[in-house]
Amino acid sequence: MASTQLLLLACLCLSASHAFTCRRFQSKSEVLVTVQDRWFTQRLDHFNGADTRVWEQRYYMNDSFSHSEGPVFLMIGGEGSANPGWMTQGTWITYAEKMGALCLLLEHRFYGKSHPTKDMCVENLRYLSSQQALADLAHFQTVMTEKLGLGNRKWIVFGGSYPGCLAAWYRIKYPHLAYAAIASSAPIHAVLNFSEYLDVVQASLSRNQSNCPGKIKIAFDTMLELLDYKENYLKISKDFYLCEVLVIRSKMDMAFLLDTIAEYIMDVVQYNNDNREFEGVKGGNITIQTVCDIMSNESLVSPYDRFVEVIQSIRKAKEEKCIETSYQQFIHDMRDIHWDGPAASGGRQWMYQTCTEFGYFQSSDSALQPFSGFPLSYHVQQCSDIYGKDFILPLVVDSIQQTNENYGGLNVKSSRIIFPNGLIDPWHALGIKTNLSSDLLAFPMEDAAHCADMYPARPQEPPVLLEVRRQIFEKLSEWLQL
Ligand SMILES: *[C@@H]1O[C@H](CO)[C@@H](O)[C@H](O)[C@H]1NC(C)=O
Ligand SMILES: *[C@@H]1O[C@H](CO)[C@@H](O)[C@H](O)[C@H]1NC(C)=O
Ligand SMILES: *[C@@H]1O[C@H](CO)[C@@H](O)[C@H](O)[C@H]1NC(C)=O
Ligand SMILES: *[C@@H]1O[C@H](CO)[C@@H](O)[C@H](O)[C@H]1NC(C)=O
Ligand SMILES: *[C@@H]1O[C@H](CO)[C@@H](O)[C@H](O)[C@H]1NC(C)=O
Ligand SMILES: *[C@@H]1O[C@H](CO)[C@@H](O)[C@H](O)[C@H]1NC(C)=O
Repeated sequence: MASTQLLLLACLCLSASHAFTCRRFQSKSEVLVTVQDRWFTQRLDHFNGADTRVWEQRYYMNDSFSHSEGPVFLMIGGEGSANPGWMTQGTWITYAEKMGALCLLLEHRFYGKSHPTKDMCVENLRYLSSQQALADLAHFQTVMTEKLGLGNRKWIVFGGSYPGCLAAWYRIKYPHLAYAAIASSAPIHAVLNFSEYLDVVQASLSRNQSNCPGKIKIAFDTMLELLDYKENYLKISKDFYLCEVLVIRSKMDMAFLLDTIAEYIMDVVQYNNDNREFEGVKGGNITIQTVCDIMSNESLVSPYDRFVEVIQSIRKAKEEKCIETSYQQFIHDMRDIHWDGPAASGGRQWMYQTCTEFGYFQSSDSALQPFSGFPLSYHVQQCSDIYGKDFILPLVVDSIQQTNENYGGLNVKSSRIIFPNGLIDPWHALGIKTNLSSDLLAFPMEDAAHCADMYPARPQEPPVLLEVRRQIFEKLSEWLQL
């Protein structure tokens, strides 16, 4: 299962696998409300007028609060299936209710049910890019404005994680369409070697108990020592509940194992104490505090045994039967081009976007963190292992540079964009954390996780979230002159 790498993003997004994104929109979840699938005819290639091919893109609408004088809110879908839960819940819905907004959510091309091509072969993935996705939004907005008679209403875009970037970039690139953008936890600076991710993981782990990352490092190093001897593989396989007895044939096999284990901890930190439950995400009750409490629980003698207990607790809370650590299987799944394939929920698509646009590779290259064994080269090699021999380092490096050239990275020249960032969340390292002007505003949030401002409020969350949600509402009201 390709979950690895999507950790990232998953806010409206991301995937599961690990990667970037906020996992949010990913939901295989049972959602309680029935929100109707709607379809929009979209061009395959917005940048070639001679290419007339079209496809059907999914979107959702909630018009319950819509008032003819109110704004239009557009939630931008990301690297996973669009989650209909967002059509009735989340911070933006509370704003919509007060502002009389029409709410729309457009699923990102190539994710969920929005299939522009007959499969995801490498040739077809050429049409998967943030630039095409922004052009999808522009065409959607233009046609919907006409169709629903929204001519005099202002459009506000929302997004978290990768879609947070898209929200900011839509405002930057299409200022005549987007009036303002709320870009939550947006890593708008693309980087190849995102070793800082784990630096923040370490910093966040030490916030509650300063020696917690040190204990994890001791445990991880013990695991590395055990891995020096094949006789220990059976023990390790049992300790960590691996789906099959460990086989290490190559450096990539070893790196994949270590990355997979470390990602359990990364995940806890990124989503610490957030309120994603409505999206159907499991495991939210395991927090940094849970991890660090177990790491200091003396009823288990060695840090290694405590670490095993930590990983087991997370696995159980996520309701995973066992941990898949075969690199070969991972690559096999990620190479599957079919829409019903094992990595089609976003793993194959998102990895392609990291190899051709963003990098964001969470390498273990920094010394300021507890993990080791999954260097930058391991991440980059996945690009060619999955998409073919052309996808090598120089191509990846060039693509990332092109992305920053195109959008400007941290050098944002625009207006009316808000950048909330949870400071527990490792992704904040690539985001905007200071006010750039009187209407390019940063809201760094102590103790808050990835995209936490977007979720429904709840009592046990950091108080800063309530405050930031209120400030965003006030800014929007001011900008809309409500
Ligand atoms: C819009 O969201 C509100 C709040 O959750 C919900 O009560 C209503 O049923 C939704 N309307 C539609 C058309 O989905
Ligand atoms: C760690 O977290 C717990 C629970 O939130 C809290 O009671 C405790 O004060 C925290 N400790 C530190 C040092 O922040
Ligand atoms: C330590 O672990 C033991 C055994 O799992 C458990 O019973 C105990 O409650 C834990 N202690 C603390 C302080 O969490
Ligand atoms: C977390 O929730 C799962 C079930 O949802 C439960 O089995 C597990 O014991 C909980 N873990 C903790 C540490 O609360
Ligand atoms: C990645 O970045 C870290 C921290 O800046 C650095 O120590 C490491 O050498 C870099 N890795 C590569 C392969 O350049
Ligand atoms: C940016 O400005 C707003 C007020 O306009 C303020 O509330 C916020 O704290 C500022 N952000 C930073 C990081 O200083």
